[in-house]
Amino acid sequence: MCGIVGLVNGHPVARDLVAALRRLEYRGHDSAGIAVAGERLDTHKVLGRARDLSALVAAADPAGHAGIGHTRWATHGRAELRNAHPHCFGGVAVVHNGIIENHAELRAALREAGHDFASETDSEVVPHLIAEALAAGADPLSALADVCDVLEGSFALAVLVEEVPDAIFVARRGSPLLVATGDRVAAVASDAVAFAGLPVRFAALADGEVAELSHDGLRFAVQIAEARAWSAPPVAAGTGAAGGFAHDTRREIAEQRAALEATATGLAALDLPGAVRDATRLTVVACGSSLLAAGVARDAIERATRIPVELEVASEYRDRHAAPAAGGVALLVSQSGETADSLAAMDRQEAHGCPTIGVVNVTASAIGRRAAGAELGVAATKSFTAQLLALMTLGLRMGRARGTIEAGFDAALSAALDAAPALVEAAQAAEPDCIAIARRIATEGEALFIGRGAGAALAGEGALKLKELSYIRAEGYAAGELKHGPIALIREGSPVIAIAPGGPGLPKLLANMSAVRARGAHVVALTDAAGAAACRGAADGVLVLPGASAEEAPFAAAVALQLIAYHVALLLGRDVDRPRNLAKSVTVE
Ligand code: F6R
Repeated sequence: MCGIVGLVNGHPVARDLVAALRRLEYRGHDSAGIAVAGERLDTHKVLGRARDLSALVAAADPAGHAGIGHTRWATHGRAELRNAHPHCFGGVAVVHNGIIENHAELRAALREAGHDFASETDSEVVPHLIAEALAAGADPLSALADVCDVLEGSFALAVLVEEVPDAIFVARRGSPLLVATGDRVAAVASDAVAFAGLPVRFAALADGEVAELSHDGLRFAVQIAEARAWSAPPVAAGTGAAGGFAHDTRREIAEQRAALEATATGLAALDLPGAVRDATRLTVVACGSSLLAAGVARDAIERATRIPVELEVASEYRDRHAAPAAGGVALLVSQSGETADSLAAMDRQEAHGCPTIGVVNVTASAIGRRAAGAELGVAATKSFTAQLLALMTLGLRMGRARGTIEAGFDAALSAALDAAPALVEAAQAAEPDCIAIARRIATEGEALFIGRGAGAALAGEGALKLKELSYIRAEGYAAGELKHGPIALIREGSPVIAIAPGGPGLPKLLANMSAVRARGAHVVALTDAAGAAACRGAADGVLVLPGASAEEAPFAAAVALQLIAYHVALLLGRDVDRPRNLAKSVTVE
């Protein structure tokens, strides 16, 4: 989390830094700031969005040809201006992504040596430590290398030193950092989107590397990678223009058809690795919506492959004591491909020699170039349905390769995967009904989502979308679990959304719906043509979504749940694209 950027160019860099920060804002938007090297270090910071820096920077018009910038997701210290980066001391400015775990000890030692601190952040110790090393006679590059040796935790750092106004010093351990070089231009950033439009090629800095970036390219204090894979920067994605929609989130809900078509095309070219074909179990490790997408796909994968699919919360899985089962394969599912908890879980798998495959939506990867495309809204929308398509396709392919999938289910699953792009488009027509459901939820200030099987995972996703976009407390439950506790939450008028497509699970779900209704809940069923008649007798409202089978139903239901959450957020005046406290790439544990 947090986005960092740095740029050395043949002309003033301040405006380009702000433009890059706006593209990095999905990593955090509590505050933003830049420092530019001129005769002295010139720093500008705002609380909140990077776009608000533009006016400050335009007025000040800093002349420096090297600078660093930061967009913050608060970890240590509240979202206040004094905690905004860059942090400066003694002619050194620093932007940091990650967590410095021994900051309290370092701060105490620096205080004893007479240092005062302006912020509550862990990051602020870094400029103090570098300034000390410079004062002791080190050159900036070795000063940074020495300071990295005393830091514990994870960090990506970009440093500006007043005495060397045409260079940026960078280092990383754990947190991501990319470096870019071109003809008399060099840059550094947490993510390649920051390089859009720059005449450079970029590559990852290896874990533990410390380098200087200048017009002359890269110079290392510590070099680990012997060869680097250099890539061209991505084409700039928008920063909120939203293509005629009020929000990027709404545009991304609308463009799911194209996202699913591109994902299906990319998957067609993918070879099923032998270890996956022969796996005796699949362990999905993921967080948030990515884990819920796997929950929705689990039934289909198990039915096709006849092997168990376990779902593991990445942040918990990494500390488990039992070794992964022999013959098992781990599936790391991640929209961003950057989630620290998922990466830590991947380390654990690899340490046990367990094969791991990733299902990601990052444009820098071969699959990613054909995947759902950049998602700007913080809440997962099109990446969720694209993950669903990818995971169900994997189940189908595995079932065929193993010879375990029955002909009838093969036909139903293939038809659902073929129909998915059209379904997510047709489901957009449900928006007026979703707005009516949203009104009730916004008025009541709560919601309970229920379902069975894939519907239970979708219920979790409906609740998660609502929480993150509208800040309303919502629960997503396997409907059969209600009677074991959560049914106590039901009062007169409680909004309950049941994910209730036709199929063998429906009769039991209808009984669960009746039980909450009998206690005063207002129940709306999200169903399909096969379930509509039965739902009419058990719900106060019925929304009939497109879809001709249990395998097709989740695609349309996911869109309806997204639209409901989006409209509750609009009704409550929330910042839909940048919900409070959230960031899109979660790179801290
Ligand atoms: C919810 C959402 C998050 C992410 C989670 C994992 O809308 O976006 O719950 O799904 O942070 O992120 P990735 O998929 O990037 O690993």
